[in-house]
Amino acid sequence: MSHMIEVIRRSSSLGPINMSEVLLSLTNSIICTAAFGSKYGGSGDGNTRFQGILGESHEIIIGFGIADFFPSLEWINRVTGFEDKLDKVFHALDSFFEDVIEEHLNPGRPKPEHEDFIDVMLRVQKDVSQAISLTRDHIKAVIMDMFLAGTDTTFATLVWAMTELIRNPRVMKKAREEVWRIVGEKKTVEDEDLHQLNYLKLVLKEVLRLHPPVPLLVPRECNEKCNINGYDVPLKTRLFVNVWAIMRDPQFWENPDEFWPERFTDQQFDFTGQNFQYIPFGSGRRRCPGSFFGMATVELALASLLHSFEWELPAGMRKEDVDMSEALGLALHKKVALRLVASPRVWRKT
Ligand code: HEM
Repeated sequence: MSHMIEVIRRSSSLGPINMSEVLLSLTNSIICTAAFGSKYGGSGDGNTRFQGILGESHEIIIGFGIADFFPSLEWINRVTGFEDKLDKVFHALDSFFEDVIEEHLNPGRPKPEHEDFIDVMLRVQKDVSQAISLTRDHIKAVIMDMFLAGTDTTFATLVWAMTELIRNPRVMKKAREEVWRIVGEKKTVEDEDLHQLNYLKLVLKEVLRLHPPVPLLVPRECNEKCNINGYDVPLKTRLFVNVWAIMRDPQFWENPDEFWPERFTDQQFDFTGQNFQYIPFGSGRRRCPGSFFGMATVELALASLLHSFEWELPAGMRKEDVDMSEALGLALHKKVALRLVASPRVWRKT
């Protein structure tokens, strides 16, 4: 986090900052560090190689695989070269994960200060008392899942959070004052501070209500034929749950399009998916397994941004001019990059 703050501090004198670039690189760096270790979190060769492959894999996954929608047209994927691209990316990712796992197994590797995700899974793999025996393919699949599902969602949430804060100066002021009060003049925000940032948590709940990064959740398939509210639902029907619409439904939410974090003050909504009115992390057995990690990352990043800088729109731009168009990639993103002016906060002793 301190690396990101330093980058923003250095670029702040050069004009408006492209928040999407800064926040994407921050999110990648946090998830890479957690998964592979600190060597992969910075701007070193390990990270650069992985980012290249990840960029290509995003293009493929976001791309339209026509056979997913019309199975009889599967041959088109071969003609358009879609299948070849998929194979190429798959092999590049697989060989990257192989190299990282081998590196972790090397007995000469210096002992890291903190275990990363691969260390943990290799430890579990060796533990014969575990009910599940993990294969190398399991480990690679879990890491892959974590990246594809964790990076874009966390990054999109951060961008929408800064967007809503800049459009809502009252909320920005209140959130910033809370961070300044709790973190004070410490150089960086620490994990322990997060428990006390109650208003910031309300802000993030409201961000996820209006901008759920996975607006239709992951698709479900009916495993038995049923009837719901008089509608026959055949076996194997593919089901999409439109949480975007549910969380803006005026039947459940007062002034649903308004950004108003205080609506969560007395409402006991959490991220466990128990209340179907508010399910930004989904619900049931397919619920997001990374919700705690995701929220801790977003809270820490947002608190650090508010603690170290004051944020404004570029000169001449009004908050009404901020483009709120959405674009669907792996997650629901802000279509037009957010550009903001950062002024490093100066602490004055009183
Ligand atoms: C603010 C950040 C995040 C949001 C809003 C989010 C949201 C979601 C949602 C809505 C789903 C689908 C759940 C369902 O259909 O019921 C999901 C699935 C998933 N998420 Fe997250 N997520 C976030 C961060 C993360 C992180 C950081 C990780 C891992 C490090 C992660 C890993 C996963 C995985 C592996 C799945 C697939 C689960 C499955 O289909 O079995 N997510 N996420």
